[in-house]
Amino acid sequence: MLKGSEATLMPASVGLTFRFMTSAPVRVPVAARLATARRYLMCPPRFFTVEYSINPWMDPSRPVSTEGALAEWSALKETYELLGHKVETIEPQPGLPDMVFAANSGTVVDGLVLGARFRAPQRAAEADFYRTWFLDHGYRDVVMPEKTNEAEGDFTWTGDVLLAGTGFRTDPGAHAEAQEVLGVPVVSLRLVDPRYYHLDVALFVLTEAGPGTRAHIAYYPEAFSPGTQRLLRRLYPDAILATAEDAACLGLNAVSDGQNVVIPREATNLIAAVKAHGYTPHLVDITELRKSGGGPKCCTMELRG
Ligand code: ARG
Repeated sequence: MLKGSEATLMPASVGLTFRFMTSAPVRVPVAARLATARRYLMCPPRFFTVEYSINPWMDPSRPVSTEGALAEWSALKETYELLGHKVETIEPQPGLPDMVFAANSGTVVDGLVLGARFRAPQRAAEADFYRTWFLDHGYRDVVMPEKTNEAEGDFTWTGDVLLAGTGFRTDPGAHAEAQEVLGVPVVSLRLVDPRYYHLDVALFVLTEAGPGTRAHIAYYPEAFSPGTQRLLRRLYPDAILATAEDAACLGLNAVSDGQNVVIPREATNLIAAVKAHGYTPHLVDITELRKSGGGPKCCTMELRG
């Protein structure tokens, strides 16, 4: 049993109880959840610190524990491994304290890699270390973007379309570039709250789309523009809507394998909601990583194909 996890076996039999005005409670069965094995790329935070500020979470005057960040990161990696996922690692580099946030350095769909181009000069050099990692690990199709592109920070693969955030970091022109390079349909979403500067701190996929089914997602509506909120309601009418408190602890920076949801432990409403929908939450501590505006998903790039 994972430490700090809420892993109990509760998949197919879980149901939601709806109360109607005049009738007794009705139990509606929730779909069985199914985990699929994943491959992730992670970077140990050996040089982690907060020495510049490029988002509202980062306060360089506040003490940060590199040891603590390493312990959080190791526990996260171990959680994935205990769930049966394969974790690859890349060497961290001195002077690149945000390199731990692997999600920002590549979007990989079907073995095609679209690299990153960071907005902040402090992070620019990370992109090439990751590019080299891909080339050294057998990836043949590695394209580096022309437009500002913070990869899985702003791009979320749903199984049928690539959701793409813009507003703070990734340039909208990078969305068209991603569609061309990866050959998948891209849906642009506008972020409006500086605390939720990347898409992956405002939305995550619980279950990918399958043949004839849409993805099941969770998101914080207020992080998006009114038009994007309408779009999300239209595309994902059954989404889990996160509360302000869930968002404010970076609860949406979660990672799901279709059954297991690795999620910051403070996101209590969201944890209860994913449980009620038949998923198994695994709670992680991100106290130090959050000081940089990052959580479990930020530390995790998914290698698809
Ligand atoms: N300090 C980093 C930055 O502002 C945090 C990045 C978090 N990564 C993410 N995928 N949201 O760039």
